[in-house]
Amino acid sequence: MALVTTTEMFKKAYDGGYAIGAFNVNNMEIVQGITEAAGELKSPVILQVSKGARAYANHTYLVKLVEAAVIENPDIPIALHLDHGDSFELCKSCVDGGFTSVMIDASSKPFAENIEITKKVVEYAHDHGVVVEAELGTLAGVEAIAIGTSHGAYKFTPDQCTRNEQGILVPPPLRFDVLEEVSKRLPGFPIVLHGSSSVPQNFVKMINENGGKMPDAIGIPEDELRHAAELSVCKINIDSDLRLAMTATIREHFVQHPGDFDPRQYLKPARAAIKELVRHKLIDVLGCAGKA
Ligand code: G3H
Ligand code: 13P
Ligand code: ZN
Repeated sequence: MALVTTTEMFKKAYDGGYAIGAFNVNNMEIVQGITEAAGELKSPVILQVSKGARAYANHTYLVKLVEAAVIENPDIPIALHLDHGDSFELCKSCVDGGFTSVMIDASSKPFAENIEITKKVVEYAHDHGVVVEAELGTLAGVEAIAIGTSHGAYKFTPDQCTRNEQGILVPPPLRFDVLEEVSKRLPGFPIVLHGSSSVPQNFVKMINENGGKMPDAIGIPEDELRHAAELSVCKINIDSDLRLAMTATIREHFVQHPGDFDPRQYLKPARAAIKELVRHKLIDVLGCAGKA
């Protein structure tokens, strides 16, 4: 199977009450960990590349790594998506360069200008058979992700949370009322949930116990993500959890094997940790295992 667009994926996900995982990729081990899990579980998957990833790894390297993953996993649909493209030129370059989906995020611009840029991207991308995701509107100058998620490993401050009997922080619930209202007004329309890492506490603990410092890192509870996937959310974006899995594994490896200096010695377990994390997400959170 060649790279696919997300059109068919989203239609099936919307009707089936599950979501497709959109995982950020920055290097070979991340691409391999994600796609090995998706391949084994016969799951559709979206690999997404940010402007920063493109600056780090280079457009061609990332596209070729994703093409290699498509060859290695011929039975599953894989889409290649630009995450948070901030200009028409960046989106155009990804459309021209083999991506099957782009996000235009002109949310830093005044609303009218955002709409104008978004329209221009939609026109160009659709002419080339590429799907567009857009971020419209802002909330008090901050990125408008409207039901309570945000990017990164610190999604809530401790004073926004309560604590359970074990003293563990419990975040405020997502605004499912807003999501339901949006779905009512736009029936059949696939919604994307950004900032959907759950910040697994076992990885935070591993990081903190092995020389790291991530106090009070907290994410979105997985049962809430599962619920969103059953509703109109068809794409769930996960990046920070991959970073945590990789960093925790590498930190622990170096503490346990201080003499190691061959990158394969620590990147191999890091890749395995990503694969295991993605397996869990596909089965237990997104519900898309077996939906290829
Ligand atoms: O939306 C943010 C993603 O996690 C990508 O992050 O811009 O550091 O690559 P990045
Ligand atoms: P996280 O930081 O929660 O992983 O969100 C990633 C994201 O939304 C990428 O667009
Ligand atoms: Zn995002």
